[in-house]
Amino acid sequence: MSSSIKKQLYEALANADGNYLSGQALANIIGCSRTAIWKHIEELRKSGFELEAVRKKGYRLISKPAHLSEHDILFGLATKTIGRSFHYYDSVESTQTIAHKAAREGAPEGTVIIAGEQTGGKGRMSRPWHSSKQKGIWMSMIVRPKLPPERAPQFTLITAIACARAIEEVTGLEPHIKWPNDILYKGKKLTGILTELQGEADKVNFLIIGIGMNVNQTKDDFPEEVKERATSLEIESGNSVSKTKVVQNILKYFEKYYNLYMEKGFAPLKIMWESYAAGIGKPIIARTLNGEISGIALGITDEGILKVEDQDGNIHHIYSADIEF
Ligand code: BTN
Repeated sequence: MSSSIKKQLYEALANADGNYLSGQALANIIGCSRTAIWKHIEELRKSGFELEAVRKKGYRLISKPAHLSEHDILFGLATKTIGRSFHYYDSVESTQTIAHKAAREGAPEGTVIIAGEQTGGKGRMSRPWHSSKQKGIWMSMIVRPKLPPERAPQFTLITAIACARAIEEVTGLEPHIKWPNDILYKGKKLTGILTELQGEADKVNFLIIGIGMNVNQTKDDFPEEVKERATSLEIESGNSVSKTKVVQNILKYFEKYYNLYMEKGFAPLKIMWESYAAGIGKPIIARTLNGEISGIALGITDEGILKVEDQDGNIHHIYSADIEF
């Protein structure tokens, strides 16, 4: 679906100041068929716009969504590809699932799926991800890098840098990154990233990068089991934070770092990642699928793999784990 038609449609209806515009009038203004208008009216409705349709009169805009809207995000978006195809849903089970389907059906590089609420948000290691209504950023990005699948985990680190940078820019807070996918503030979790791969033995077909960022929750908005470990930008900054601005900045920095990575490899990103890293040089426990490793976190390799030195001086390379420190 073309975001540009949707944007033009929204603008035409908004400019009509609450008056009706017929399907034909809208089709003439935008330069598309009446069927296309009807389809895009339905898309606007799914995005939270309230629209009235009256026979022989046409369509009338009653209200626009009071939350993140595609329109607001696209207007301030400083990217070339990331987020240029953008779909907002009021409520979905998981933006990851929608993004997988869209990617299989050919959605272009940089497509972003965002939801006001997720009823079955997914975290790493099959954990649930609590995604309360309108309080956070629940989004998935589709990218199609021409790379072998073993490079995919680096996208989690690149995304983490983009999120940390966006948080800094919008709120002035200085977050940290806990390898591989958590963004923390004073030890509490602000953001989680879930990178899922669809590929073949030697190439990535697409990656779905899911970002869950806690933005305007108060302490009581978190479920009991995560209350002590989670925090939000509002709790930490003391102010309500514009999700639109945060999304625009995540997309801007992600595009910038993704391009840098495709041009120069992971080395420049590694330096940036290290400037945000938490727990490096400290004792940690890494819980992997094959058991626990305790030791000192030495840093990451040029590939983004965590190095841990155990008490016998053995260096372990950790590809995937939950870290405790
Ligand atoms: C984690 O820390 O375990 C990763 C959490 C990732 C959550 C995001 S929210 C948007 C996207 N949709 C999902 O269902 N999960 C990711």
